Amino acid sequence: MNDPNRSRVLTLTLDGLEVPFSEGETLLDVAKRVGVTIPTLCHDPRLEPAGVCRTCLVEVEGWRRLAPSCATQATAGMRVTTDSARVERHRKGLLGLYATDHPGDRAAAERRGPDELLAMIDRYGARDEALGALSSLRAGRPKDANPYIDFDPEACILCERCVRYCDEVEAVSAITLAGRGARTTISTADGIGLLDSSCELCGGCVDTCPTGAMAEKLPLTRGLRAERELAKVRTTCNFCGVGCQLDLNVDPGGRDGRGQVVKVTSPAPGTTTNDGNLCVKGRFAYDFLHHADRLTAPLVRGADGQLYPTTWDDALSRAAQGLLGVKERHGADALGFVSSSRCTVEENYLVQKLARAVFGTNNVHQCAAT
Ligand code: SF4
Ligand code: SF4
Ligand code: FES
Repeated sequence: MNDPNRSRVLTLTLDGLEVPFSEGETLLDVAKRVGVTIPTLCHDPRLEPAGVCRTCLVEVEGWRRLAPSCATQATAGMRVTTDSARVERHRKGLLGLYATDHPGDRAAAERRGPDELLAMIDRYGARDEALGALSSLRAGRPKDANPYIDFDPEACILCERCVRYCDEVEAVSAITLAGRGARTTISTADGIGLLDSSCELCGGCVDTCPTGAMAEKLPLTRGLRAERELAKVRTTCNFCGVGCQLDLNVDPGGRDGRGQVVKVTSPAPGTTTNDGNLCVKGRFAYDFLHHADRLTAPLVRGADGQLYPTTWDDALSRAAQGLLGVKERHGADALGFVSSSRCTVEENYLVQKLARAVFGTNNVHQCAAT
């Protein structure tokens, strides 16, 4: 007998296989979950589907037109094909058209960052002989003076990911579509520089851009290596206690073979707690890593009053001796503990525990600004 309380399992057919789905999932969500790859350009899982690039079209039985899988809700009983001859023909034709809207210099494109469009053109065997045929119509725009973000209008395919990211994730709305027809481009309102706009220089538009049209300026101006030659090292940002994960992009041959961090990127959306997002400090303030003045070992003062590098064990034991000496001579309330807002909540908890339980003073504070 049917149990009326048991929720109905919704299914559809994807490339001949019956697959379950949950209400609210799009066809693209379902395909991703079961490991079927559908190419996308304007899609970013953090953004509302826009359905503007038409790269993700699939065939749905009984539908006259191909459907954008990123913007089509799954419904029970649908029969979906992601790789029919008709879909293939559409993809190749569309990617060939996008090729005309993208610069022809592949080496230059590689230096700007990951280029999903070029990778897709290669993967689907689309015609690329017309690369750059139309993109030059948008050339010659004055460069923005901000120190971090470079925009190449010739590489932009107007997918609006950057605009929607700025609006929906950052809630800043610093950039928008501007101009008309073939000269349509991405700009700030009234074409003012990013530094004069509401832009927070988070760099999220750089990370979401699928063509390298938005790119990080420093690696470009320093003439550093192509994206594929960089190694990625996952680490935790140390600018505040949030603990965003970030990837240091390392040029292994930089600094005479000692390795050089040439840019910072965010891990892919959905993989770490910061969900692909960073702030201006985490993303762009990395030059201190190789600064000559950076301390790489603890320092202790010698009998001559000068500071000398030492081991962490020695530094900690010298600090403990000093603190205990003050307590012995003047009492616990002669001590004060100031922690840092760069520390995590757990580390700050431990500092107050050290002050109260170990040394016996309530003189403990945490600076709330970095
Ligand atoms: S850097 Fe951030 S705030 Fe500025 S335009 Fe890009 S997404 Fe918007
Ligand atoms: S700059 Fe990049 S993300 Fe923005 S519209 Fe152009 S291609 Fe899309
Ligand atoms: S990814 Fe679906 S229309 Fe662009």
